[in-house]
Amino acid sequence: MTRSVAAIACGMPKAELHVHIEGTLEPELAFALAERNAVRLPYASVDALRAAYEFQDLQSFLDVYYAGASVLLHEQDFYDLAQAYLRRAAADHVVHAEIFFDPQTHTARGVPFEVVLDGLERALHDGLRALGVSSRLILCFLRHLPEADAFATLEQALPHLGRIHGVGLDSSERGHPPSKFERVFARCRELELPCVAHAGEEGPPAYIWEALDLLQVRRIDHGVRALEDERLVERLRAARIPLTVCPLSNVKLRVFPDMRRHNLKRLLDAGLAVTVNSDDPAYFGGYVNDNIRAVQDALDLSAADWRRIARTSFEASLVDEPTRARWIADLDAYFARK
Ligand code: HPA
Ligand code: ZN
Repeated sequence: MTRSVAAIACGMPKAELHVHIEGTLEPELAFALAERNAVRLPYASVDALRAAYEFQDLQSFLDVYYAGASVLLHEQDFYDLAQAYLRRAAADHVVHAEIFFDPQTHTARGVPFEVVLDGLERALHDGLRALGVSSRLILCFLRHLPEADAFATLEQALPHLGRIHGVGLDSSERGHPPSKFERVFARCRELELPCVAHAGEEGPPAYIWEALDLLQVRRIDHGVRALEDERLVERLRAARIPLTVCPLSNVKLRVFPDMRRHNLKRLLDAGLAVTVNSDDPAYFGGYVNDNIRAVQDALDLSAADWRRIARTSFEASLVDEPTRARWIADLDAYFARK
């Protein structure tokens, strides 16, 4: 029996490198935690909350996303959140996930940094044992806040550096260029923390240049606007800088008017190292395989394209070389059976 390209891509082993744990909070869990913690959500029901997921741009999404995070108070809440994500990821044949978390969203509400980290880490540990999903945590600085706040967050992270595998930069992009965080990223590099940053989602190609040159990141999160700048495409291609692309997110936040107009295929054809990720799956219409199906419907990639995307997801991960090689061998074995 020949399987469709979408089925092959959904079934292949893959890594997810761009997912915000706070963006995996499904409305059902949000309401359950609101009740457990006696927090009032400004929505009457699960359906009313889901109906609010109509976004004009990144900021209109972030307003809802930060409101949703208000139900997360205790270690068990962060555990439940991450456990639910890992179950969904495992069902999509994700064997490794590099998960962003936004400590400032929680510490600003009085939730201690350690409560967030302990809950997430315990879930990740259990997820490896129970589901076989490997994972890493990437601490993101909120770029709409001052660099001094990022330094304060890094200070809180210092006793836990062995448990944090990298740093990133997220939240409102426009008006908050990477250059604003040059000093804190320099400090992170001194601490030998791998660096990534969101750039070129809504922001211009100049922000991608800054992320590369000033922050010295090893991956660009989103980066879809790179195609507007030929020299930048050449730089990304020559240095094999991975772009963690999030197709459903880009359509939901109106970076592209619809999936047919998404530039994923053009990024691939330009020779760039591209991965496909879910970003904030509870808000944007689905997890990795939902992204794969939506892309395949609209852009009709080949099985070879998907194989390359999965291979890139492993090559671009933060784990050691033997582990990456093992996953790539598993991917090759999967395609040998197709
Ligand atoms: N972009 C920027 N910041 C974010 C996002 C995003 O898509 N999701 C959560 N924080
Ligand atoms: Zn993101």
